[in-house]
Amino acid sequence: MHSDPCEKYTNSALRVGDADPYPQRLVGEFIGAVISNDWVNEEYKHLTLKVHEQALRAYAGQMFHLLCPSPDGAEVWMRRPMSVYRVDKARSQVEFLYKVMGRGTRGMAMLEPGDDFNIAGPLGVGFKLAPSWKNIVVLGRGVGLATLAPLSQLAAEHGVGVTAILSARSPGVVMSKSLFEGFGAQTITVVDSDNSSAVENVEKILEDLIDKGRADAFFTCGSNRLLKLMQRLGKEHNIPGQVAMEQVMVCGFGACYVCVRTFEVDGVRTLKRVCRDGPVFNMQEAVGW
Ligand SMILES: Cc1cc2nc3c(=O)[nH]c(=O)nc-3n(C[C@H](O)[C@H](O)[C@H](O)COP(=O)(O)OP(=O)(O)OC[C@H]3O[C@@H](n4cnc5c(N)ncnc54)[C@H](O)[C@@H]3O)c2cc1C
Ligand code: FES
Repeated sequence: MHSDPCEKYTNSALRVGDADPYPQRLVGEFIGAVISNDWVNEEYKHLTLKVHEQALRAYAGQMFHLLCPSPDGAEVWMRRPMSVYRVDKARSQVEFLYKVMGRGTRGMAMLEPGDDFNIAGPLGVGFKLAPSWKNIVVLGRGVGLATLAPLSQLAAEHGVGVTAILSARSPGVVMSKSLFEGFGAQTITVVDSDNSSAVENVEKILEDLIDKGRADAFFTCGSNRLLKLMQRLGKEHNIPGQVAMEQVMVCGFGACYVCVRTFEVDGVRTLKRVCRDGPVFNMQEAVGW
């Protein structure tokens, strides 16, 4: 069987440092070298990979489809979608912040420095900043914060101010605060344990930011009730918004239609693929879950 890369296909992933035979392509399959894979709290790990320069094109809101190692010797079917948490171009690194849940992420949790990890991407449509926006509000909960965190980097690069409202069960599992603050964002933490994360309280915080002119656009991920709140306030105050959606995926690039969700565009219900048309969508078009 012919095994050299041909004009259309490559039969093996690129190794770190290899010359890329297809420099014009936007998406690819890459082998990243694990730099670190550390626990950030009892549920989440932070993975840093050294990657091929093509993978560094990933921007906020885009994802990679990860070929997770097996945690138990049996096959792990299909890749797992994961938002890019941070891109560090100077060090040729991409980072992921992930919750250790089922077999895929348990396999990921076993990766050690020096291991190889196969990632495909960058995939999907990420966040966009309009030139007229001077201040944005980011509201996320749980793992949704991992998806929203790179927005702070994107905003910092464009001189846009960020207020990030970080919602979590308890102070011990609030994530991404230091990443947001490292890029100059102001953070407000709300938690279930003192009821500050209640929708009524978050609404007051948002209204205050709107009054102070610090909400040119809304961004959210990770909670249906927070999405509904931002949609309602966005409509009332004419504030545009974007939401990052999650859905179970198989191919990750638009072919299988496993990841469709319902959206409402100009009053008409329509199906869109989260992997290809998203994962970031116009907030007012999202139907929620
Ligand atoms: C666009 C996108 C971005 C994401 N970004 C992150 C991130 O930054 N950090 C993070 O921790 N998680 C993220 N997730 C969720 C992550 O994909 C799942 O937690 C992961 O697939 C679970 O796999 P598992 O094998 O550990 O769990 P299992 O429950 O064993 O998975 C079984 C199957 O369900 C799928 N699945 C389970 N939960 C989800 C989910 N929430 N979304 C999609 N598929 C799921 C798995 O891919 C797998 O095919 C993202 C999901 C999407 C769609
Ligand atoms: S996962 Fe196949 S179309 Fe989205």
